[in-house]
Amino acid sequence: MSATPEMPFGDYYRLIYMKGMAGEKPELPVSWAGLEEQAYETMDELARSYVFGSAGTEDTARANAEAFRHWRIVPRMLRDVATRDLTTKVLGQELIAPVMLAPVGVQGIVCAEGELAAARGASAVGLGLVASTVTDHSLEEIAEAHGDAPHWFQLYWPNDPEIAQSMVSRAETAGYGAIVVTVDNAFPGWKPRDLEQAHLPGGYGKGIANYVADPAFRARMKDPEDQGEAIGLFLTVFPNPALTWEDLETLRELTSLPILLKGVLHPDDALEARERGVDGLVVSNHGGRQVDGAIASLDALPDIADAVGDELALLLDSGVRSGADAFKAIALGVDAVLLGRPYIWGMALDGESGVETVIRMFLAELDLTMALSGLTSPGDIERDALRRALT
Ligand SMILES: Cc1cc2nc3c(=O)[nH]c(=O)nc-3n(C[C@H](O)[C@H](O)[C@H](O)COP(=O)(O)O)c2cc1C
Repeated sequence: MSATPEMPFGDYYRLIYMKGMAGEKPELPVSWAGLEEQAYETMDELARSYVFGSAGTEDTARANAEAFRHWRIVPRMLRDVATRDLTTKVLGQELIAPVMLAPVGVQGIVCAEGELAAARGASAVGLGLVASTVTDHSLEEIAEAHGDAPHWFQLYWPNDPEIAQSMVSRAETAGYGAIVVTVDNAFPGWKPRDLEQAHLPGGYGKGIANYVADPAFRARMKDPEDQGEAIGLFLTVFPNPALTWEDLETLRELTSLPILLKGVLHPDDALEARERGVDGLVVSNHGGRQVDGAIASLDALPDIADAVGDELALLLDSGVRSGADAFKAIALGVDAVLLGRPYIWGMALDGESGVETVIRMFLAELDLTMALSGLTSPGDIERDALRRALT
């Protein structure tokens, strides 16, 4: 899929209205709230608690969404927005839009095809994605399903150096363009909805496809075909609470790929990352799933952008729910946003086609928001396009 879309993303509305003239209505809800509600009703109890659950009182999950409401766009007029271009480059890699799919683990809970549905849905549009470590399909299968669109590998750093090395080198070989180390997951957050189900996916062998396919992991097992043994070993190598800044030096030696840290919220951590030779950051609180009461990602962004925005690639997730939200994050300093739960809602409702529809709706809204604000490319979206809300 080429980086240039066959029609401007914003024109997706024309398609919907044209189909309407033939008596056809969209199969999925178009409003983000409607999509969320329908996905919630569709999922079974385990999937629902896993996807919708956040840490503690879920205060940070709410704060993530509210933070976007605290900024307002101030549109400019009469600026010829007939031709627009959403393409952008992050870490030298061409993206069709300043958006990628966030790494979401264990998607097999939502639909049987899991990560392959996400990869195929993204591939149909040419959108980039970040593949999780804890998946129901191997990183090689996901890369193949995603085709030519850019993919990065999210690493949950195993506490076994040989397994870490092996996963990084497999990601390189499979064509991943960056390693995204998630640093906010030293332990699973206290997530009451999951705890009420008493259900840890890995304990049932869910999300461990990358481990059982890994030669270094298999070399640690007495019987590599024994699922029970695989689950036991997985639970000893993940997570890795002893990880420190020094370990990044090891990773730097293991790979020539760009390295990003996902889960940074403090400007001093951003500065430390820069000192350690990291190439980019994902400003993220993991969708409010780790520290209840943590600062909203968008609220953390301006200080981080001021500290390192000129030198590091900056991405953000947590609470991005619309094209307007993406616009605001870009205005506050990110090169791209990661779209999280909304594509999983699409997947729950209609598999790979649901993922594709969610992406098309999201990009249409971003393109129209940009155009109607008087701008024609992501590089033109600057802080000046926003004001703090008065109420
Ligand atoms: C069900 C679920 C599973 C997730 N799994 C992972 C994962 O495997 N690795 C990771 O780095 N982040 C994971 N995340 C966090 C996302 O990458 C992203 O930070 C988060 O979804 C952003 O919040 P939002 O979806 O509310 O916008 C997961 C999030 C959800 C909702």
